[in-house]
Amino acid sequence: MELRRYLTSRQRLIDRALDHFLPNEKTKPVTIHKAMRYSLFAGGKRLRPILCLAAAEACGGKIDNAMPLACAMECIHTYSLVHDDLPSMDNDDFRRGRATCHKVFGDGIAVLAGDALLTIAFEIVSHAKTPHRYDSSTLLREVAIAAGSRKLIAGQVADLEAEGKKVSRADLRYIHENKTAAILTASVCLGAMSANATAKELAAITKFGRSLGLAFQVIDDILDVTQTSEKLGKSAGKDVAAQKATYPAVIGLDASRLEAKRLTKQAHSALSIFGEKGETLHALANHLLERDY
Ligand code: IPE
Ligand code: IPE
Ligand code: MG
Ligand code: MG
Ligand code: MG
Repeated sequence: MELRRYLTSRQRLIDRALDHFLPNEKTKPVTIHKAMRYSLFAGGKRLRPILCLAAAEACGGKIDNAMPLACAMECIHTYSLVHDDLPSMDNDDFRRGRATCHKVFGDGIAVLAGDALLTIAFEIVSHAKTPHRYDSSTLLREVAIAAGSRKLIAGQVADLEAEGKKVSRADLRYIHENKTAAILTASVCLGAMSANATAKELAAITKFGRSLGLAFQVIDDILDVTQTSEKLGKSAGKDVAAQKATYPAVIGLDASRLEAKRLTKQAHSALSIFGEKGETLHALANHLLERDY
């Protein structure tokens, strides 16, 4: 219950900040700003920005300094969803409880809305105050690498290329680490950087993000099999139909659940140096493991 209230209040703060950073719907050309806002304000869980802010606090920082970075990561995440749903990718018509961006605005505008959300992320990063250990170019590089062709896009490419094929466990791990864990890891790392984290703190947060990020995608795969579209706010059961490389498909549902637990445990262990200051991150890791949406 307590965590639920925390999540709702963080979502509100993040939504307010995103609203401030995004051009309003009347800004020309209105179509693109409507499309960007349509997908961004459709009711996502805001987990990446929430984790970013929580990592900043675990490192003794203030959420205000982390907020532009948190918002930038949510814009990149939303762009990745808009493109992920396109007919030429996963071909989904339901996302965040509503019709996908391309269903409402057409494929062309959806491609451009994704492009614009990705681009504005870098503009938003430029608003972040920089602590003395990490300058703007360090923050920008962190974002660019995570979103680029060796991480997020690498994972999405491998995901597409694995459709209908038999993949090894190592291939599967590569897909998930890149398409999902990289953005989650960058989110917590940027939070830590905004708090002027020490090298030791940043290393611990990086380890936490990698384990949690991988667990997150394993759970996403499990939920695709076990939940309804209504519950998820996106089309369930699509992975089997599209013959996607997922943990349930490669190692089975029970082993996937055990793997998600093992990875979450690893994430918890990474937080040991934070003591009590890591409590919120511990609670978030448990919440993500137990989530059913
Ligand atoms: C969905 O992410 C895509 C994955 C990387 C698994 P989320 O489950 O965080 O989606 P939203 O942001 O709440 O819509
Ligand atoms: C998400 O993978 C990866 C992204 C980078 C968007 P999925 O394709 O499994 O995500 P959902 O299930 O459509 O949200
Ligand atoms: Mg996909
Ligand atoms: Mg998809
Ligand atoms: Mg999925």
